[in-house]
Amino acid sequence: MADESITITDNRTGKSVDVPIVDGGIDAAALRGLAPGVWFHDPAFMTTAACSSSITYLDGEAGILRYRGYPIEQLAEQATYLEVAYLILKGELPTKAQLDSWVNDITYHTFVHENVKKFIDGFHHDAHPMGILVSTVAALSTFYPEAKRIEDPEIREKQIVRLVAKMPTLAAFAHRFSLGMPYVYPDNELDYCSNFLSMMWKPRSGERNYEPNPVLTRALNILFILHADHEQNCSTTAMRVVGSAHADPYSSTAAATAALYGPRHGGANEAVLRMLTEIGSVDNVDAFVKSVKEGSGGRLQGFGHRVYKSYDPRAQIIKKAADDVFALTGRNPLLDIALKLEEVALSDDYFIKRKLYPNVDFYSGLIYQAMGFPVQMFTVLFAIPRTSGWLAHWSELLEQDSKIARPRQLYSGVDERTFTPLDRR
Ligand code: CMC
Repeated sequence: MADESITITDNRTGKSVDVPIVDGGIDAAALRGLAPGVWFHDPAFMTTAACSSSITYLDGEAGILRYRGYPIEQLAEQATYLEVAYLILKGELPTKAQLDSWVNDITYHTFVHENVKKFIDGFHHDAHPMGILVSTVAALSTFYPEAKRIEDPEIREKQIVRLVAKMPTLAAFAHRFSLGMPYVYPDNELDYCSNFLSMMWKPRSGERNYEPNPVLTRALNILFILHADHEQNCSTTAMRVVGSAHADPYSSTAAATAALYGPRHGGANEAVLRMLTEIGSVDNVDAFVKSVKEGSGGRLQGFGHRVYKSYDPRAQIIKKAADDVFALTGRNPLLDIALKLEEVALSDDYFIKRKLYPNVDFYSGLIYQAMGFPVQMFTVLFAIPRTSGWLAHWSELLEQDSKIARPRQLYSGVDERTFTPLDRR
């Protein structure tokens, strides 16, 4: 059998070190002894495994995604979001009794302090709901000062329950505020997804009581499951970095939410919808793709992924789920543009060569729009379920007793020079 190790040689000294390959990685600390003061230069972590994790398995070449060993396709088909959140957070699928107790705990904690409404009221009328979410999640830490005691597993667990429970409430409040409509309190008779829909839309015009449609609830469950975790993406990395400083979980989650807000990450679903609207017609697709290739049209939003280089399995599941939603709501007129765009891009050399395929965000926005969500809420809809993933990584990190995240840099600035007083500059 071939030697499962890599040898690094410092050609300045002729010294070598053999580093064993463990779980697909080599310990970068080996370089420290061999060549002190020389660092791995890896901006954007393109070649770095920043941690070891047992939560999510992802094979980007084969298009495989598993939570705790379970294929995403099986979870999306058969589980509920809260069942998956339990799995991600605790490592195993819950028994019936465990699930009942978990759902009960989450349901009990869905309300937010009345003062939260007061500071949401202070935002400008057209504030982006992600901006509101980032701020309100951070503010929760002031309501639960005991959350700072991150060394206590019981206190940690309590904050996890609170965060998973309250994210939909904060999200729906942000939406209601943007419409100038009264906030709707959680309805603890409803399941997690139905309750969120109810807080968003109760009552819609002409309805005395809003009844969430089971087709929409199911679709939302699937979308939430698909978004629950995705190993070391940008926001999860933010969560782990801030968590490594031992910040409380609300502050860490706010940092992760802020990272998700960016259009290269969770903001892409919003960008897809804007792009499709701008393209406007199937007839304009060819010209748009040409402009992307020439660099004048920006990127094809919802295409490409740092890890997936064959297809994104989440995009395939979403495409299927879309049919059920469209059967109920009517076809989203932008779908034809999206399908044509996918067809053109997938047969074009530029995209083939760079292994660019539709990602999770390419179709999710179309479903969200058909369900009645405004475009500004799309990234919020990503943040709600990703909270369980962020918290699973946060818990794992604390259990691993890891050190504070503190990378090195390669200094590329000027050498020492003498200060010139202002009157001589
Ligand atoms: N449209 C056109 N060209 C692209 C795209 C795209 N969407 N994505 C990558 N490329 C090109 C890029 O210009 C580069 O070409 P060249 O080698 O000629 O310079 C090559 O493909 C490699 O791109 P990269 O930027 O080095 O790839 P990356 O792994 O750093 O970026 C990405 C990954 C997701 C940020 C990027 O593909 C992108 O910006 N996509 C559009 C935004 C998007 O859909 N984001 C959602 C990602 S999935 C959900 C999530 O993570 O939140």
